[in-house]
Amino acid sequence: MSEYVKIVEVGPRDGLQNEKQFLDSAVKIELVDRLAAAGFPNVEAVSFVSPKWVPQMADGAQVMDGIARRPGTIYSALVPNMRGLEGALAARVDEVVIFGAASEAFSQRNINCSIAESIARFEPVAAAAKQAGLRLRGSISCSLGCPYQGEVPVGAVVDVAERFLQLGCDEIDVADTIGVGTAAQVARVLRAVGRITDLGTRVSGHFHDTYGQALANILSALDCGVRIFHSSVAGLGGCPYAKGATGNVATEDVLYLLQGQGLSTGVNLDAVVDIGQWISGQIGRPTSSRAGRALALKKA
Ligand code: HMG
Ligand code: MG
Repeated sequence: MSEYVKIVEVGPRDGLQNEKQFLDSAVKIELVDRLAAAGFPNVEAVSFVSPKWVPQMADGAQVMDGIARRPGTIYSALVPNMRGLEGALAARVDEVVIFGAASEAFSQRNINCSIAESIARFEPVAAAAKQAGLRLRGSISCSLGCPYQGEVPVGAVVDVAERFLQLGCDEIDVADTIGVGTAAQVARVLRAVGRITDLGTRVSGHFHDTYGQALANILSALDCGVRIFHSSVAGLGGCPYAKGATGNVATEDVLYLLQGQGLSTGVNLDAVVDIGQWISGQIGRPTSSRAGRALALKKA
């Protein structure tokens, strides 16, 4: 048996949130359903945030209502406050994701409050999510760099990780929101986080691919012992509050890499290639996945 790596598919949320043109809920529902059917153990499906801030995610309730739930699949939603949590509970999500930043400047731009204020705001959210028996994940934006303040000290990432663990997070995402990090830096940050929690089961790598470093960063994180990664089909996305940032690392590329490393994910790469082609057609843009493009051409 080859070693297992968990891939969290974040395309429906992190990917689509950045699309200017509003996509039909039916397309989002089909995307989530096809991804779950392709074997992802965890699909980040929606967010319950202010529609004034992220209009594309305004139909989270409809999307969650329309999907055909696969037993065993974890459907996650981002939640910034108690109002969002109420939406997530009503939609019967399996996992609530709270999201803070290791950079003060980014926290202000993304959620309109300081890091400390955001943690205080997450306290009742985390308690209520746990009370409801849901999984809780904490995402740390700008763990490897910030579009507004530049460098982010390793200690700032560890501080937020520590607070998230105190709030009861089952998993912590070390997120490179703007895709600027490099492999050695990833190792430095992860080793520091590894001093306060178990890298193999509690920490994920969430890498955007702006500077083309995401696959190298995944290898570096694997080397440190991380076994959970986030990726987005066709490399969809960007961040509405990080100008110029491109999408998450493309799922097809990650699956191709992991296959080559002899690691198993339980995800059907061939099905993901088809989904990548389909969703790229829906948003009217070619796929950003190199492996996705090559494999689709081979099939044609
Ligand atoms: P605010 O404007 O400071 O607060 O927003 P507010 O409480 O005054 O709310 C403003 C309006 O939104 C009000 O409506 C609220 O009712 C409404 P109005 O009275 O003006 O008509 N509202 C909501 N509506 C629906 N659901 C809610 C909700 N909350 C308030 N939950 C707030 C503060 C946090 C709400 C806002 O800044 C926000 O929603 N931000 C979300 C930003 C976001 O979604 N960013 C992208 C996700 S993070 C990310 O992508 C990074 C990640 O991928 C990791 C990485 O790569 O780094 C996770
Ligand atoms: Mg992201």
